[in-house]
Amino acid sequence: MSENIITIDGRKLEFKQEETILEVARRNGIFIPTLCHLKGTQPTGSCRICVVEIEGGRALATACTMPAANNMIVHTNSPSVLEARRTILALLLVSGNHNCAIAAKGSEEWTEFQQQVESYDQSDELCPAHSACKLQAYAYRYQADTRGLERRETEYPMEMASPLILRDPSRCILCGRCVAACNEIQVNNAISHGFRGASAKIVALGDADLLRSDCVFCGECIQACPVGALVEKKSRYQIRPWEAHHVRTTCHYCGVGCQMDLHIKEDKIMKITGVEDVLPNLGRLCIKGRFGYDFVQSPERLTHPMIRENGKLREASWDEALDLVAAKIKEIKEKHGPEAIAGISSAKSTNESLYLMQKLFRSVIGSNNLSSPYAASGLNNPIGELEEAKTIILVGCDVTEENPVAGTFIKRAANKGCNLIVVSSFPTKIGAFASAQLLVKEGTESVLINGFIRELFERGRKGSDETKDTVAGFSLDRVTKITEVASGDITAAVEIMDSNGPSMLVYGSRVANLAWAFLSLQELLGNLDIRCGGVNFLGEANNSQGACDMGLLPNYLPGYKKVDDDEAIKAFEDLWGCSLNTNPGLDLANMLNNMNGSDDGSDKKIKLLYCIGEDPAVSAGSVSDISNALKSLDFLIVQDILENETIKYADVVLPAAAWAEDEGSYTNCERRVSRMRKAVPAAGKAKPETWILTQLANRLDRDWAEMSSQEIWEKEISMLVPQLRGITYDSIDNGGLQWPVPDHVSLGTTTTRLNGYRPPLQWGSFVPFNYHHRTLLEQCEGLLESLPRSGGIGTRETPSDPKDVTYRFIQVLEEETVQWEPVKNKIDEILATYRSRRGGLIPVLQQVQEILGFLPIPVQNYIALGLGLPPSDVFGVVTFYSFFTMVPRGRHIIRVCLGTACFVKGAERLLELIGDHLNVSIGDTTEDREYSLDVVRCLGACGLAPVIVVDDTTYGQVDPKKVIDIVEGHRTVRAGD
Ligand code: SF4
Ligand code: SF4
Ligand code: SF4
Ligand code: FES
Ligand code: FES
Repeated sequence: MSENIITIDGRKLEFKQEETILEVARRNGIFIPTLCHLKGTQPTGSCRICVVEIEGGRALATACTMPAANNMIVHTNSPSVLEARRTILALLLVSGNHNCAIAAKGSEEWTEFQQQVESYDQSDELCPAHSACKLQAYAYRYQADTRGLERRETEYPMEMASPLILRDPSRCILCGRCVAACNEIQVNNAISHGFRGASAKIVALGDADLLRSDCVFCGECIQACPVGALVEKKSRYQIRPWEAHHVRTTCHYCGVGCQMDLHIKEDKIMKITGVEDVLPNLGRLCIKGRFGYDFVQSPERLTHPMIRENGKLREASWDEALDLVAAKIKEIKEKHGPEAIAGISSAKSTNESLYLMQKLFRSVIGSNNLSSPYAASGLNNPIGELEEAKTIILVGCDVTEENPVAGTFIKRAANKGCNLIVVSSFPTKIGAFASAQLLVKEGTESVLINGFIRELFERGRKGSDETKDTVAGFSLDRVTKITEVASGDITAAVEIMDSNGPSMLVYGSRVANLAWAFLSLQELLGNLDIRCGGVNFLGEANNSQGACDMGLLPNYLPGYKKVDDDEAIKAFEDLWGCSLNTNPGLDLANMLNNMNGSDDGSDKKIKLLYCIGEDPAVSAGSVSDISNALKSLDFLIVQDILENETIKYADVVLPAAAWAEDEGSYTNCERRVSRMRKAVPAAGKAKPETWILTQLANRLDRDWAEMSSQEIWEKEISMLVPQLRGITYDSIDNGGLQWPVPDHVSLGTTTTRLNGYRPPLQWGSFVPFNYHHRTLLEQCEGLLESLPRSGGIGTRETPSDPKDVTYRFIQVLEEETVQWEPVKNKIDEILATYRSRRGGLIPVLQQVQEILGFLPIPVQNYIALGLGLPPSDVFGVVTFYSFFTMVPRGRHIIRVCLGTACFVKGAERLLELIGDHLNVSIGDTTEDREYSLDVVRCLGACGLAPVIVVDDTTYGQVDPKKVIDIVEGHRTVRAGD
């Protein structure tokens, strides 16, 4: 007989080493009540509601802390246990405002009271957690009796300061679950127990309100609170727990793909909670996922198709709009060929709509000009492995902001002793958890990674000769000089990764184009295809991986089949019933550059752009003449859910159904395909993207059947993409599967053993800036006020007097412009246009930066004043997006690529020559403001290395002897020069 046998309520049960009585009981379906216990955290044993009787024990024991032991005999419902629970509950009930559950006489009164309150839910006296409160449920279950006990009022008032979270100390039972959720699950360390005895309470830093604390408004504490002491402010008294129906879905913000339940009442999303115990997030959510839902019901949703007529957009019917789009596609295809047509589709769309988009382009239009700006993939290990990693190398990822739930796994790992190496070009919050923090000069990350590789060779690591030759030039001295990271810090980081393996390398969108360097590093360290290893990409967009898998790439079909591989594309031609264009299409950068042309349009290649869910007028703002490029298109179709800047140039606007208004699937960064479900009806006349694309194909003389998302997946996607073959909607109904899933019996590839299968690492050559999250969050009540802000200069020194703000603004204009008044008028005009509109901040900043070249604090404050926003919000955005600058920039921006290929081919020398010639260092601007010198990570043109870009012109194979001529060729010619 096994050694590990415990008897609970007469049942003999096996237990595992270190299991508690509670865990054994729960695993076997035996109920023991808990209040303070929170799975995944250290038990505190503070509430004592879980007491059980152990035969031979001197006193009752708490089941959540007591380890199971062999031959132990436990009773969970003995008279003494029940009596103890009743007493604990009665004391808790009188310790605060728990009016919903004070039973004075007997059980009949309980029932009457329950019935009464459930039919009367208007009173704000009635706790918002009524019917979902554990204390109430237990009080009823054990018939707690408070007779003879005096009720104690709390001395602390309700805290209403935050727009998202309401704290009501009068209902707090001091169980400490919120503290454990904050400090141990999310590792935000924002709250703790404070004061003693009758004054005890849960406090944030300095006993301030949450808004002024370190709270990041993840809401984990609300989800953990067993009573009504912490509630969502937005839904308080808007929805009673029993009124909601729940729809399980996948978060649409970042690449973690958290699983969540939408609480729906009257076709509106009222509240969101994480799905406990389900991968990848185990119930955790971040501020965006938990609170960022109101954009779905925003008044600024696009609700009907529009057509431009006489320069103005007017409402149109779907038939009218789709007929026009189809006619234009036909016309341009006939006149200029299919390659004059290009499509951009957001990596926020579902797999099914991305698939149909590329099918429309490839099989109907005949063009491979397809791009999804955030399409990227890694060789990811499961996110959960982060928590068990020995070492994590985190590069170019502000994980607590961009992928906060993945950040919780990393922080938990660091707390358990994992070595965390953080490489970033700016300070990050996760840096506080690092064993080694390397602050690298913006754009030089690849130099540092190659430096790591060279050091590892020096230390005796064995790798290919090719890799060794590639990194030969990355000596410690040179790397130190270029990256500005101290050599001691570099060697310390290398020491960690060399002797504390395996390490998981984790990287973000900003360095997605360095994927191959990461692969070389991990290969050398022996960290590929092993547990707690891998090259793990954390996408900022929810479906970055899906966009690659679905072939939203100019050179790959779905499943990474090259467009020019005749043999590989046969299956597509057979299923689609057509022959395909085998010319690789243009990537995003080339698309944008090919939209501009001379006035007669003869030299531009792209005449028609179909843009789904992207806003190039804003996101490609660094392309200096993006507005001209959009204007010069013959026809522009914008399909989106909200008003955006690109719509200004659109000929037709098609309103799409948003997340939660449509069915489909997303593939998260660990290749997990999960369901996105319809929970509410689409706004106005908005339609699912798959419907729109099908309608268009049929107007272009095809005969596409109208298929549900499930049919598109099962009849086409899983047929054409071998790694997705085994996935059906049924198989992912209760939880996603990680591909490859080769057949229907496979449960996916949850381990890291990809069996040598390597999806190609993809990235765009041009990474626009990600406006998506901000734009959606701007439409959500309370979000922007609560998002963590960048501190530091500017936020505090904001004058509040409008006259003072205007005076300081004019001072800047006087310094920066020849005639300040017309410039001020122009800026005032911009501010007036956006004043009453939500979501105007980014476009305003962009336009003002276009005028002034930079956004110093006085200008930011003037913008804040003009838009009626807090100056700290403006400051937060300017410092968050690298596209904005607070320091003056040159009229011409020189970017030298310091990716591996360019470095090896002499980019460093080019950098030196330009720097010496202009007398500037990296990141600086010449005194006459003519040039700024930047370095960039790989530009995706490695075949042309070394590469430099001046403004929007790319120069390849640059000869050091000619580099100064190239630079000087861009100098502004002034009258009289
Ligand atoms: S919202 Fe998140 S960070 Fe704030 S107190 Fe609650 S758990 Fe902590
Ligand atoms: S606020 Fe809620 S979770 Fe936190 S201690 Fe009070 S009752 Fe427990
Ligand atoms: S971490 Fe990402 S997927 Fe999870 S809730 Fe936050 S935004 Fe959504
Ligand atoms: S749940 Fe065990 S002591 Fe609170
Ligand atoms: S290294 Fe790829 S373009 Fe420079």
